[in-house]
Amino acid sequence: MKKIISVVGARPNFMKVAPIHRAFSAYPDVEHLIIHTGQHYDSTMSDAFFQDLDMPQPAYFMGVGSGTHAEQTARVMVEFEKAMLELKPDFVIVVGDVNSTIACTLTAVKMGITTAHIESGLRSGDRSMPEEINRIATDSICDYWFVTEQSGLDNLLHYGCPSERVFFVGNTMIDSQYYALAQAEHSNILEQIGLTPKEYALVTIHRPSNVDESEQLGELLEILAELSTKRTVVFPVHPRTRKNISTHGLSSIIEQNSNIKLIDPQGYISFLALMKNSDFVMTDSGGIQEETTALGVPCLTIRTTTERPITCEIGTNILIEPTPEAIRIALRTILDSPRKTGQVPPLWDGKAAERIAEIIVKRCLGL
Ligand code: UD1
Repeated sequence: MKKIISVVGARPNFMKVAPIHRAFSAYPDVEHLIIHTGQHYDSTMSDAFFQDLDMPQPAYFMGVGSGTHAEQTARVMVEFEKAMLELKPDFVIVVGDVNSTIACTLTAVKMGITTAHIESGLRSGDRSMPEEINRIATDSICDYWFVTEQSGLDNLLHYGCPSERVFFVGNTMIDSQYYALAQAEHSNILEQIGLTPKEYALVTIHRPSNVDESEQLGELLEILAELSTKRTVVFPVHPRTRKNISTHGLSSIIEQNSNIKLIDPQGYISFLALMKNSDFVMTDSGGIQEETTALGVPCLTIRTTTERPITCEIGTNILIEPTPEAIRIALRTILDSPRKTGQVPPLWDGKAAERIAEIIVKRCLGL
């Protein structure tokens, strides 16, 4: 019996690990456990996803919470080392690019535990993003690399990763989308908020570069107020963004516009229903670029770079410089012109986790 541990920490991790957990249930010689670092801890940012994705409760909850990058990363490392000493796994799986990803990789690799990174190889080229540093550091020390798109494969081979340990398997986040789509069709979230399909724009903004400074956040909210004269704006607010709207005294911009629906962060199924039925999405998220491409919904990504270029090359995503002028032009264009249509990238077929489980069991663990 081999023990495999997958790490989850922050919201974008849960949908990547849920299908992996299901895929390992086909292998009787494997015990697969989930460890939650507690980087995200609000019920809307964490518990809701366990329920929506039918994930078992984590075998270990570390409860590290928020802090500076150094504090959060260090706390995860200290607690993860204790968990590893107790659980003694044969193999560790980390996903994505959050602080928990690098913290657990660094800990596990130094303890001599074989570690695989799911969604490896992605690069924005922007070292001011904390996630980019997490990606570079994780990929440079892990033992196996699982890749979602061609650019990831190209980057890893360019950095000299041994090709026999790099696997282009597709996207486990899209596996979760396949899994939950039927339930999303039955969600009543649109009725709850009072929305008509295709008559609203869905907005998420949480990246420090967009929400930490008063001026940039204020500009973005003014733009949402303008957009709300043309479309209902549905805005599920990340805790960081909500806090900054209040701290910077910007709440009145929202309160004066009843056509902006500021709502709590949504669970996985409600958010999927909101994305699928929206006219378009405006975001600065990493994963939403991929989820909208898989759904064929137009997406404006308010960032200068993307680590997921396939979503722009063949998907429905368009990068928009985060300046008020560029965003206003992009919104005018999307409201008045034919939309970008796209294709679903190779291997985003709902079966990535099955491929990963088979490779780990047969090739990495030799079972
Ligand atoms: C993290 C990830 C980011 C991902 C995002 C998704 C890193 C470096 N960043 O950013 O890649 O896109 O998650 O949400 O790991 N907070 C709460 N409740 C929570 C979680 C956070 O109130 O459950 C607040 C805290 O004030 C905290 C702040 O949000 O200080 C930021 O949380 P943190 O985990 O540090 O980073 P995110 O911005 O969520």
